[in-house]
Amino acid sequence: MSTTEAHTEVPVFDADFVHDLHARYAEIRDATPVQRMVTPNGLPVWVITRYADARAALADPRLSKEVTRIRDVIAENLPPDSDHRAFDESLASHMLNMDPPDHTRLRKLVVKAFTSRRVEALRPRIEQITAGLLDDMAEKSEVDLLDAFAFPLPIQVISELVGVDESRRDDFRAWTNTLLDASDRDAAGAAAVAMAQYLTELIEHKRRQPADDLLTALIDSTEDQDRLSDKELIAMVFLLLVAGHETTVNLIANGVLHLLRDPDQWAALRADPDLVAGAVEEMLRFDGPVMHGTFRFTAEPLPVGGVEIPAGQIVWVGLAAANRDPEQFPEPERFDITRDAHGHLAFGHGIHFCLGAQLARLEAQIALRGLVERFPNLTAAGSLDDAQWRFSTLIHGLRALPVRPTG
Ligand code: HEM
Repeated sequence: MSTTEAHTEVPVFDADFVHDLHARYAEIRDATPVQRMVTPNGLPVWVITRYADARAALADPRLSKEVTRIRDVIAENLPPDSDHRAFDESLASHMLNMDPPDHTRLRKLVVKAFTSRRVEALRPRIEQITAGLLDDMAEKSEVDLLDAFAFPLPIQVISELVGVDESRRDDFRAWTNTLLDASDRDAAGAAAVAMAQYLTELIEHKRRQPADDLLTALIDSTEDQDRLSDKELIAMVFLLLVAGHETTVNLIANGVLHLLRDPDQWAALRADPDLVAGAVEEMLRFDGPVMHGTFRFTAEPLPVGGVEIPAGQIVWVGLAAANRDPEQFPEPERFDITRDAHGHLAFGHGIHFCLGAQLARLEAQIALRGLVERFPNLTAAGSLDDAQWRFSTLIHGLRALPVRPTG
C-alpha cells in the first residue's frame, strides 16, 4: 500500500469515536495497518492498528518520545489557529518523555527505589484499604463504583507509597483530573503550577524528615554517584502519581463493567476467585485503561506494514486496536477471563514498559477478589448498554458505573 492510500479516509478522534471505540478500530484494523486520524484540535496523527506492528513500533528507536522535539513536531503539524495545550516544562520533563540515554539513566535510578519488594510489601495495606471501602459500600443500596471504590483505592495507595500527606489527597485528585481533561487549557496550566509547587515543598520536607516511602528512596537513590536533581524528582513524582492513578481506576471499573455485562464471567470468578490473576490480564487486553497513550514521533521515516510514515510525524501506537487483533488473539471480541491473554500490550512494551505494572496488577487483583467475595450478587443499577465513556485521547474510562452492592 502506498502512503497516499493510507490518507484516503481520515476519521476524527472525537466523542463519537470514543463511544464506539472497538467497532471503529476493528474496521480500521481490517482495512489498513496505519490509519491517518485527526484529533479534535486538528492534529494529524498516524495510528498503528495491528498487534505485530504495534509491538515492533514500541521497541523501535526510530520512534522518539523526546519531549522538546515532540512539542516542535506537534506545532509544525497543527493547522494555524488551532487550540494547542503547551506542555508544562517542569512536569513534562520525565522519563516517559525521553529517549536513551536520558531515559536509561532515570529509569535505572527509579528502579532502584521502586523495587518489587516495595510493591509486594504494600499487599496488606492494599487489602486493608479495599476492605474499608467495601465496608462503606455495604451500607448503601446503590453506589457509583468509580466514586466509592475504583477511584479512592489507587489514589490512596499511590499517595501513601510516594508519601503525599493525607490532607492534600483531594487536591491531587482535582489536579490530575484537570490535567488529563483536554478541554480547559487555563485550568490545566493552573493545576500544573499548583502541583509543581506542592511537590517542591514535599521534596524539601522529605529531605528534612526522611520516611519509609518512595519519595525518600528516590531522593536517596544513587547509581555511580549519580542521583536525581530536584527538577527530575518533581517530574518523576508527577509521572508516578498521574500514571499510577487514573490508569488503575479504569482497569478496575472497565473490568467490573464487562464482568457485569457477562453474568457467566462474573459467576465463574465468584465460583473460583483464584481466576482473578487471569481475569485482570483479560481486562487489560479487552478494554484496558490506555487507548493510545503511547504517542511518539518519527525521528526517521518508518515503514509499517507496507506504509511509509515520513519523518517528523506524530504516531499513535493503538494499544486498544492491537489488543483485539484476531491475528494475535482468537475471537478477540469475546471477553473470557479464562483465556490466555498473555502478551497484550496494555502496559506497553520495550524500554518504556510500564514501571507500575506489578502494582497495578496487585491492586486490581485485590480489588476484584474483594468485590466478588464481599458482594457475590453485585448487580448494575441501570442499563449497562449505554455506559458513558469519558472523552480523552489518553484514558479509556467510564463517567460512572452505578451498582447495587448486594451480599
Ligand atoms: C508507562 C499503562 C499503571 C507508572 C506506561 C505505558 C503504558 C502504561 C501503556 C507505556 C507508555 C509508552 O510506551 O508510551 C499502564 C496501565 C496501568 C498503569 C494500563 C494500570 C492498569 C501504572 C502505575 C504506575 C505506572 C500504578 C506507578 C505507580 C508508569 C511509568 C511509566 C509507565 C513511570 C513510564 C515508564 C518509562 O518511561 O520508562 N504505563 N500503567 N503505571 N507507567 Fe504505567
